Amino acid sequence: MHILVSAASRHGATAAIADTVAETLRRFGHRVDVRQPEWVGSITGYDAIVLGSAVYAGRWRAAARLMARRIQKEVAPDVPVWLFSSGPVGNAGEADGACTDAEVACKRIHARGHRVFPGVLWRSQLSMVERAVVSVARAEEGDHRDWPAIELWATDIANELAVRAAGGATPVAADG
Ligand SMILES: Cc1cc2nc3c(=O)[nH]c(=O)nc-3n(C[C@H](O)[C@H](O)[C@H](O)COP(=O)(O)O)c2cc1C
Repeated sequence: MHILVSAASRHGATAAIADTVAETLRRFGHRVDVRQPEWVGSITGYDAIVLGSAVYAGRWRAAARLMARRIQKEVAPDVPVWLFSSGPVGNAGEADGACTDAEVACKRIHARGHRVFPGVLWRSQLSMVERAVVSVARAEEGDHRDWPAIELWATDIANELAVRAAGGATPVAADG
């Protein structure tokens, strides 16, 4: 299958998650394009879509939100979509807030699921404003990404695609 993996990242942590998802899907024989959301125009020709975003102050990055809105009318009901957020870093921010934009996107493009993955925080990469925000939030510096969990999630997607290809597609729930 031809799959689009797209993720909005500011400091690169989420982009690397997208790369790992893409690599895992390729291992199952899929043709996978990785594109930044701002560069995604038409999604015609894709058999499945994975869209992710870093979370800042409880919001998805604008590029991911806009992509979900842009492709809303184009996503056919039989094209499965999965979403992910890269966010929590220790006590940083509101991990639950991560889901607000993702929930909206879930409904817009009838995603089959949304997964939150822990992210990365290196103070040396941040702007002064960002440093002030994470100080208040008492974020834990470090790379909190869970690579086995990311690969497992992508493997679950590959398995679901295999079931669909074998004719076992289940209808998407109306409430996303
Ligand atoms: C200023 C700032 C605000 C953040 N706000 C949140 C937040 O509200 N919720 C959350 O789960 N993570 C939050 N984070 C953590 C980021 O989502 C995490 O660092 C993520 O891995 C960044 O991804 P990126 O490198 O792709 O930009 C915040 C990080 C920074 C620097």
